[in-house]
Amino acid sequence: MTQVNFSDFYQVPDMKFDIVKLRQDLDKILKKRNFNSLNVSNFGAIPVNKIPNDENSVKGHNIRGIYWTIPDESGKEVSRDIPIDESKYTELMPEFENTYFKEVYETLRKKFKLGRVRLLLKEPRSTLSWHKDPEPRLHIPIITNLGCSMVIENVAKHLPANGHVTITNNTKYHNFFNGGEQSRIHLVACVLENPFK
Ligand SMILES: [Fe+2]
Repeated sequence: MTQVNFSDFYQVPDMKFDIVKLRQDLDKILKKRNFNSLNVSNFGAIPVNKIPNDENSVKGHNIRGIYWTIPDESGKEVSRDIPIDESKYTELMPEFENTYFKEVYETLRKKFKLGRVRLLLKEPRSTLSWHKDPEPRLHIPIITNLGCSMVIENVAKHLPANGHVTITNNTKYHNFFNGGEQSRIHLVACVLENPFK
């Protein structure tokens, strides 16, 4: 069994965004476009950045990306979905220009080497698969409820929507559950320099 480590949740010090502005501008974005579910149950994503001059970089399976999961009692690990060239995602999507998300994106990029940035929806009363990702992920919860927790190995943590930024060690097996009756929406970025190594 992998050693349990509370530092798999790293709250970034001295960084806090304005949750009121995030929610106001999330509303503006949601009036313009919908979450793309890719026909995956309980999942939805809106890309915040893209590969310059590559409209396909925000379409189809590029909004999900490769992960590993243990689907059944055999305990055998399998990979799903497609690898992503994360470091090429450097350009803000046009609908996020003139929103607070631009300031958030620019601030984060100064501090961290980022790949894709997405708004991720987790529907009420749902989980993900038990899985691991290629890299850690940075979370800014925007809409959440007390029934929402991220679980890494066997440590669960609620991430409040208070403007703070948390980097989670998604290279370990994890899940996210929303046990509330309201959708959960986080800004999630792929972090290309692993702070957990
Ligand atoms: Fe994940």
